[in-house]
Amino acid sequence: MDWFLTSVLITGAAGFIGSHLAQECSARWSKVIALDAMLPTYDIATKRQNRDAVMSCPGCRFVEADLLDVNLEEMLAEVDIVFHLAAQPGVRSSWGPDFDVYTERNITATHRLLEAARKARLQRLVFASSSSVYGEAARRPTPEDAVLRPVSPYGATKALGEHLAHAYWRGFGVPIVTLRYFTVYGPRQRPDMAFHRLIEAALDGGEVTIFGDGRQTRDFTYVGDAVAGTIAAALAGEEGGVYNLGGGDAISMNGVLDLLETILERPVARTYTKRQRGDARDTAADTSRARQQLAFAARVPLEQGLRAQVAWQSTARAASSAT
Ligand code: NAD
Ligand code: UGA
Repeated sequence: MDWFLTSVLITGAAGFIGSHLAQECSARWSKVIALDAMLPTYDIATKRQNRDAVMSCPGCRFVEADLLDVNLEEMLAEVDIVFHLAAQPGVRSSWGPDFDVYTERNITATHRLLEAARKARLQRLVFASSSSVYGEAARRPTPEDAVLRPVSPYGATKALGEHLAHAYWRGFGVPIVTLRYFTVYGPRQRPDMAFHRLIEAALDGGEVTIFGDGRQTRDFTYVGDAVAGTIAAALAGEEGGVYNLGGGDAISMNGVLDLLETILERPVARTYTKRQRGDARDTAADTSRARQQLAFAARVPLEQGLRAQVAWQSTARAASSAT
């Protein structure tokens, strides 16, 4: 297959990971359809900047549409690979009445896409799942065959998305590859996520808020590494395969703050508040399978990646205060 002639569809392409993925895809494939509903899930100006960066890439066509009502059969007829990243993310906000939004965007939208994929002739459909499907994993680093026991409604919707994708692979041969991303960070990170919030508070000279005792750990993954693993999954992932993508150096939130102080060269005031419902205590990815089958290797160490995110947020703040 001539990869240069391959056409790809990316859903959630104005989002944090999706916009980086679209830019990277445009460098290697001739046609990239970048779809996003531009939902105001966070500052729409940020989404517009992400979208504009994508639209300026050669071969990229941006389509503002919602997976819940767009004609997917028509769209899938044009493409060879689908990267399905559109979703309602966020662990802690998935309790209560907002759960309807999670079911619509994570389950119903995924189901619609899978129904359309039955009739399409795709090479691969890569589904963006999450480490949150494991919940409080009994083993760490956690291998892909661990029991899925999410501890948040969001994690439950991602687990159901995975089960649906598996059913469409078994039932209709839809060539699914599932990726479990572990807490992704870097430029364009969503404003509800920890690094973004901590950096904003520190740059404001205020106090950062830590949920719990700060000893919870995460296997933070730099966005460039997550994107490289995602493209590798489309090229080399086994049909029906599931792969963890993790940064490889789990660290506590207290450790992250120490690193942030080193980067900013000054102390950062911290305040501790209660642990949040739905947060797994610790995450760590066993990436042996991704290493072997996708040649995945996380290349960006945490300090380097955190510096890149600090630089991006500092520039964004300077630009917005100048306008
Ligand atoms: P994001 O919110 O920045 O991007 C998601 C995008 O999807 C948004 O721009 C939104 O407008 C779009 N969208 C949502 N529903 C849609 C619909 N029905 N139709 C069209 N567009 C729609 O999120 P992100 O952090 O970039 O996450 C991308 C994917 O990766 C999500 O599936 C998320 O669950 C998964 N994930 C993210 C992380 C992480 O650390 N960021 C970790 C694990 C899994
Ligand atoms: C992230 C994403 O938000 C989810 O979409 C994704 O599915 C998940 O990763 C995943 O890997 O599966 P999370 O791990 O909660 O979820 O990522 P952060 O928001 O970066 O939080 C990391 C840790 O920092 C959590 O323990 C959280 O409680 C803590 N935190 C967060 C704080 O202490 N203070 C804050 O202000 C925000």
